[in-house]
Amino acid sequence: MATRDTERGAGERSCVGAALVALVFVVGCSSPGEGAAARPLPELARPADQNPDPQVLEVQLEARMAEVEYLSGKRTEVWSYDGTVPGPLLEARVGDELVVHFRNNLPEATTIHWHGLRVPAAMDGTEAMQSPIAPGGTFEYRFRLEDAGLFWFHPHVRSDIQVERGLYGVILVRGDDALPVLGRERILVLDDVQVDAEGRLADPEDIGSMEAMTGRQGNVLLANGVKGAELEVTPGERLRLRVVNTATARYFRLGLPGRRMHLLGVDGGLLERPREVDEVLLAPGERADLAIDADGEAGEVWELLNQPYDRGHMTGGGSPGPVLQLRFAERPRLEAEPLPGMLRTIAPLPAPSATRRLVLTEDMDMGGGMGSGPTFRINGEAFPNVTPLETSLDAVESWEVVNETEMDHPFHLHGFFFQVAEQAGAPAPFLAWKDTVNVPAESSLRFLVRFEQHPGRWMYHCHILEHGERGMMGELLVQP
Ligand code: C2O
Ligand code: CU
Repeated sequence: MATRDTERGAGERSCVGAALVALVFVVGCSSPGEGAAARPLPELARPADQNPDPQVLEVQLEARMAEVEYLSGKRTEVWSYDGTVPGPLLEARVGDELVVHFRNNLPEATTIHWHGLRVPAAMDGTEAMQSPIAPGGTFEYRFRLEDAGLFWFHPHVRSDIQVERGLYGVILVRGDDALPVLGRERILVLDDVQVDAEGRLADPEDIGSMEAMTGRQGNVLLANGVKGAELEVTPGERLRLRVVNTATARYFRLGLPGRRMHLLGVDGGLLERPREVDEVLLAPGERADLAIDADGEAGEVWELLNQPYDRGHMTGGGSPGPVLQLRFAERPRLEAEPLPGMLRTIAPLPAPSATRRLVLTEDMDMGGGMGSGPTFRINGEAFPNVTPLETSLDAVESWEVVNETEMDHPFHLHGFFFQVAEQAGAPAPFLAWKDTVNVPAESSLRFLVRFEQHPGRWMYHCHILEHGERGMMGELLVQP
C-alpha cells in the first residue's frame, strides 16, 4: 500500500488517499493548510560575513519579533533570529573562528546556546556561566569550531517558550566529511507548531498540565519553516539530507515507505561506516546525516514521512504525515557511485575512572490551582535546586542514565560528546559521537565521556524543553 502511494502523483493525494495510508502511517487530514500546493523547500538565509579573513566567520545576529509564513499565504507572528525561522545558516570549516555580534531586541532576556559545539563554558549560553542578555542588550560570542557536523543554536532561557516561538538556527561545520559521493546536500530543519487556520501560533505560555507533562506537540510539521515542502530531484541521484529536530517535544520517526536509506552520521559527525536503515528516530535536539538513493522515475513523488512514535503517555496517536516530498524531474538519469565502505575511524574511549548513575523521575502532581503541574527530577533534585556534579579535566567517566518514568526522555550533555556503550543492557551496535540520546521509558543506558579541554560549569538536561524547564536539568562542574 505504501508503495502504491509513492507512485501516485502528489496532485491526486486527497484526504481519501491519505486515509488509506493512515491505516499504516496515521496521516492526519485535519491540520490547517491541508491540500495547499507544495512549496519548494526553502534555502536557509546566510548572514553576511564581515571579516575578510577566510578563517573567520563574523556576523551580526539579532533576536527580534517577525512575521513568517508557516502556512502558505498566512502570516504567523514569531520570535526570530534575523527575521526568519529557522534563523540564518552559519557555515564554516573546522578550525575557523566564529564571531557573533548578538543583539537582543526581544521583550525578554535571552542567551544563545550552541548545541553540540565544543566551546569554552563561558560561550555556551547557559545561566551557569552567563547572565541572560536583557532586552536591548548585546553580547559577543567568539570561539573556534572544532568538529565537522551539523549543529544548531537556540536560547537557554525559558527555552520551552523561546524555541517554540521560533528561536533556532543551524551551524554547518565542514571538514573531511564533504565528499561529493555522499550526495547532493540539503539541510532539513524539522519542527512542529500549534497554529490555527489563520496561521496564528498558540501562545506557548498557555500550556495545561497534561501538555506540560508530555511536552507540546503541534498540529503542523515544518521543514525549514514551511508546511508542505517539496524538493525536486533528478532520477538516479543521491541526496544527502542533513536533518535536525528542533521541536520542543516531538520525536520525528522518518522513513520512505518501502525504501531504505543510508545513515551516514549523527550528532557529532560521520559514523565509521554507512548503515542501511528503514527509518530513523530523531528525538528533540538530535541530528541525522542521511543519504537517499533517489532511483525513481521522472514524475514520481516520494514522501519522507513522519510516522507515529509512542514515547509514553499516549503520544503515539495520529500525526501529520509527510515532512518533505521528493518530486522526480524530467531530466537525464544520473548514476550514483557506490558509497565508500569506510567514512572515518572513531577511537573508542578508554576505560572509565569513575561511574555515575543519574535517575530520571517524574512527579505527576496535577493538583490544579496556580503553579501546579508536573515536576521532573534527576537524582531526586529539580533544577534550579540542584547539587552540581563534580569532575576534573581529562577524566573519563561512565554515566548510567536510568529512566524510571513512563515516558522517553532525550538526555543532552553540553560541551562534550559521548559514546553510548550500552542500551537496555545490550552493547551499543556501533560507535558514534553523540550529544543527545533518547532514553526510552523504564529503560536505561550507559555512555562514556571524556571531559576534555573546557573546564567550567556545564549543563545536562532532558531536551523535551518543557521537561528541562520543569526541573529535569542538572549542572556539572569540570575542575581545571
Ligand atoms: Cu539544545 Cu541545553 O540544549
Ligand atoms: Cu523529558
